[in-house]
Amino acid sequence: MIFTVAIDGPAAAGKGTISKAVAQDYGLAHLDTGLLYRAVGWRVLQGEAPVAAAMALEAGDLSHDDRLRTPEVAQAASEVAVLPEVREKLLDFQRKFARRDGGAVLDGRDIGTVICPDADVKLFVTASADARAERRFLELEAKGIGVSRAQVLADVQARDARDSSRDAAPMVAAEDAVTIDTTNMSIEAALDRVREIIGLKLQA
Ligand code: C5P
Repeated sequence: MIFTVAIDGPAAAGKGTISKAVAQDYGLAHLDTGLLYRAVGWRVLQGEAPVAAAMALEAGDLSHDDRLRTPEVAQAASEVAVLPEVREKLLDFQRKFARRDGGAVLDGRDIGTVICPDADVKLFVTASADARAERRFLELEAKGIGVSRAQVLADVQARDARDSSRDAAPMVAAEDAVTIDTTNMSIEAALDRVREIIGLKLQA
């Protein structure tokens, strides 16, 4: 069975939590595509050129969650993500992952529009910048990463602006995506809605 779920949206809207739960519920493989861009961004911060960094990416690069989930790496990721040549180098891997036997869920910014335009289910998970910044602030605080609320909000807004205004695969909801706004929604309520959407598709 090839069943693909595409989940797009801005940072800290709930995509990651929803993707992991969906993968677990339906036995699908999960790819957090943001990690690919973070891994390239991390290599660039170590002095590599962006395209060379994208070409040199190895599976092991993705398994350093601690070093990839910092605010500096997030900004570096969104800077390399503007470059069409970098995106091009990461395309094949993502498309192959999406076509895995047994099905897959991919989350990112351009999954429903560019990577998997034929995905069986497309979701665009979003929330207000203030709500997302607050969630990200609490996550970073829990990890002991010291940043102010104002700085986290500024980072979220800078990334939103860069990700949605770039020419190459900008962050945008696919025309046939269902938008889920989690600003005032619990994660359980969002998951109920997602399970309802996927259940209907599986029945059809
Ligand atoms: O999702 P995450 O916050 O980890 O993504 C980091 C950055 O990677 C995003 O801000 C975006 O610039 C880039 N990205 C992208 N396309 C994707 C996934 C992430 O451009 N499919």
